[in-house]
Amino acid sequence: MAKVATAKKEKAAAKIFVPNIVAFACNWCSYAGADTAGTNRIQYNPNFRVIRTMCSGRVTPGFVLKALRHGADGVLVSGCHFGDCHYIFGNYRAVEQFDKTKGLVQTLGLDEKRIRLEWVSAAEGARWGEVIDEFVAQIAALGPSPLNPKPKYGT
Ligand code: FES
Repeated sequence: MAKVATAKKEKAAAKIFVPNIVAFACNWCSYAGADTAGTNRIQYNPNFRVIRTMCSGRVTPGFVLKALRHGADGVLVSGCHFGDCHYIFGNYRAVEQFDKTKGLVQTLGLDEKRIRLEWVSAAEGARWGEVIDEFVAQIAALGPSPLNPKPKYGT
């Protein structure tokens, strides 16, 4: 009986945490950048879901907190580089929103590294892949979010 319990523990320890990432990408730059990554067949980590928004400035703290509440281990907000926003100042607004979000995430007792703000243009498919790979690795190192009721594990 003890051998079975030990074997189960070893099997569980051998399982690797698979992060659940939500990426909010603006329609005009980052979503197109993700598309470019796909068109160019760039290989990168598939453990994320993209939600397209019209602008990174549209991603309010409520969006990020809702994703975390529903089990996201990490949330990426990505938009156009400064000067490239389709709505002129949307990404400056995104910086303000993100700072507020950071404060709220800390208030909830979560590590602020669980959220990230990045700028990726439509031409930067390779950069999109790098950002996703880096962020997935960062969240994997942090482990499952305390708010995630069902963390995923793989082998
Ligand atoms: S449209 Fe991309 S950040 Fe505003």
